[in-house]
Amino acid sequence: MASVTSLSDSVRQQLASALSATRPEAVGADPLLRRSDRADFQANGILALAKKAKANPRELATEVVSRLATGEVIKDVEVSGPGFLNLTIADRAITENLAARYADDTGRLGVPLAGNPGTTVIDYAQPNVAKEMHVGHLRSAVIGDALRGMLDFTGEKTIGRHHIGDWGTQFGMLIQYLLEHPGELAPASEVDGEQAMSNLNRVYKASRALFDSDDEFKERARKRVVALQSGDKETLELWQQFVDESKVYFYSVFEKLDMEIRDDEIVGESAYNEGMPETARLLEEMGVAVRSEGALVVFFDDIRGKDDQPVPLIVQKADGGFGYAASDLTAIRDRVFGLRATTLLYVVDVRQSLHFKMVFETARRAGWLNDDVTAHNMGYGTVLGADGKPFKTREGETVRLEDLLDEAVQRAAEVVREKARDLTEDEIRERAAQVGIGAVKYADLSTSPSRDYKFDLDQMVSLNGDTSVYLQYAYARIQSILRKAGEVRPAAHPELELHAAERALGLHLDAFGDTVFEAAAEYAPHKLTAYLYQLASLYTSFYDRCPVLKADSPAQVENRLFLCDLTARTLTKGMGLLGIRTPERL
Ligand code: ARG
Repeated sequence: MASVTSLSDSVRQQLASALSATRPEAVGADPLLRRSDRADFQANGILALAKKAKANPRELATEVVSRLATGEVIKDVEVSGPGFLNLTIADRAITENLAARYADDTGRLGVPLAGNPGTTVIDYAQPNVAKEMHVGHLRSAVIGDALRGMLDFTGEKTIGRHHIGDWGTQFGMLIQYLLEHPGELAPASEVDGEQAMSNLNRVYKASRALFDSDDEFKERARKRVVALQSGDKETLELWQQFVDESKVYFYSVFEKLDMEIRDDEIVGESAYNEGMPETARLLEEMGVAVRSEGALVVFFDDIRGKDDQPVPLIVQKADGGFGYAASDLTAIRDRVFGLRATTLLYVVDVRQSLHFKMVFETARRAGWLNDDVTAHNMGYGTVLGADGKPFKTREGETVRLEDLLDEAVQRAAEVVREKARDLTEDEIRERAAQVGIGAVKYADLSTSPSRDYKFDLDQMVSLNGDTSVYLQYAYARIQSILRKAGEVRPAAHPELELHAAERALGLHLDAFGDTVFEAAAEYAPHKLTAYLYQLASLYTSFYDRCPVLKADSPAQVENRLFLCDLTARTLTKGMGLLGIRTPERL
C-alpha cells in the first residue's frame, strides 16, 4: 500500500495547527483552503475566525504566518487583502508527491481508501419485462454505474439491485395469450436480444388487441391474474418465460452499453411478493398505516402532490392486492435487515420522486430508516430532443435505446475514420464502439443529474469541447508521445524547477483523489467529468508551452514524460470509474 497525502491535505493540516496555536477558539477551525489563481492555494478561513475571536483579521493572519514553518512543502506564504493567506508550494514537493503517486502499483494513484466505509445498495438500471427500454432507462444505468464505480474506488461496499418491473396485471393478458398460442415466444436459449424483443413486441401487440376487442378473452386474462397471484404452477412457468426472454434482451442492451450486469443483482419487483403481507402487517401494527375504505394507507400532512393536494400512499388496495409501493417498502426491509445497508441509493427518474418521498417517510416512521441508515433518490432529469422536447422519433414514438446507441457508434466511426487512415475495418469498429458509447455516457454524466439535457449526437462526438472524445484523444496523444520516446523512460526529477504550466498540471493531478471522494459523497459524477476535462485542458497548455521530447536536458525529457504518463494514467482511471474506455490509439 502506498497512499499519498495530497498537497492540499498537508497544507490544510499545517495551517490548522498554526491556527490552533494562535487562539484557543481556532482548535478544529477549517482554514478554508482553495486552489487559487494568484498563488497555488488561498486560505480564507481566518476572516471568520477573527470575527469569532474579536481580533483584527490581518493581525491574526500575520500571527498565523509567523507560526507556519515554511520549508519542504510550503515555499512561500503571504497575507493579502483583509486577511487571506496566499500559499505557494515548493516545486520539489509537487514532483515528489506526483512521483509517489506514479510509484503506487496498486492502481490507485496513491489515493487512500475511506477510513470507515459503509455499504451502499444502489437501485439502478431497472427496465421492465416485455417492454422496450427507453432513454430514461439509459440514464439510470449510466449514472448508477458511474456512481458505483466512484463509490467502489473510495472503498465503500456497493451492492447493485436492478428492480426490474416484472409483476403486475398486464401479465394476465400476456400469459393467457401465450397459453392459447403456444410457441409464439421462442425459447430464451434460442434467441438473441433483437429477436427476443421483437417476439415480445409481437406477443404484446397481439394480446393487447385481443384484450381490447374480445370480452371473453378479457375475462380469461383477468382470471389469469388471479392464478398468477395465487402461485399457480403452469401460470408461473409462462410468466418465467417472459422474464427470461426479456433478460436476453436486457443483457444485449447492457452489453452494447459496455456495462456489466450481474444476474444475482437482478432482483425485480416480484422478488418481494412473499414479504409484502408481512410489510403490511408490521405497518398496520405500528399504526404507521391505517385502514381507509378497506385499503391500507399511510397519510402525510407535509407531502403534497399535484395541485397541492395531500396524497396518501397505498400499501394494500381494498381488494387485497399489493402494488409498487408495497414492493418498494418490502425491498427496503430486505436491503436494511438482509443486506445490512447503511445507505440506500435510488437512481430513478425525478418524476417518481413523490413516490419515493412517501416510501422513505413511511420507512422512517416504521424505524427501518433512521440516522444510521439513510435513503436518497437521485432523481434524474429528462432526455430532450434537439427541439427541447422529450426525446421522440420524427413519428412521435419513443426512441428505441438500441437504435440510439447504434447511431452514436456509427457517428463515432466517421470521426475515427477521419482521424486515423491507417486502421483496419475491425480496428475502426472496435474504436468506434468505445468512442460512441463513451460519448453517450459522458454527455449524460457531465450535466448535473437532476437537470434535463439535450441528446445531440453531433455535439457528443465533437473533438472540441467538453466531450469524452476530446479526453480520449488527449489520452491517445500521450500514448503516441510515450511510444515515440522509445528507449527513454519517464522518470521524476524533483530537483528540476517547474514551469508554471507544469505546476498547474501537477497540482491538478494531485487533486484527483480528493475530487473522486467529493463527487462520490455528493453523488455528483459531473464533478469528476469537470475535473477530467480540466485535466485535459491543463495538459494541452503544458504541452503547448513545454517541449517534451525536445526539452533542454535528458532529465527534463524524462521528467516531462513522467508528467505525461501520470496524466494519462489519471485520465484512464477517472474515465474508467465512469464506465468510459480510453483506446490506446485514436
Ligand atoms: N422499473 C421502473 C421504471 O421503469 C423503475 C424502478 C425503480 N426502482 C424502484 N425501486 N422502484 O420506471
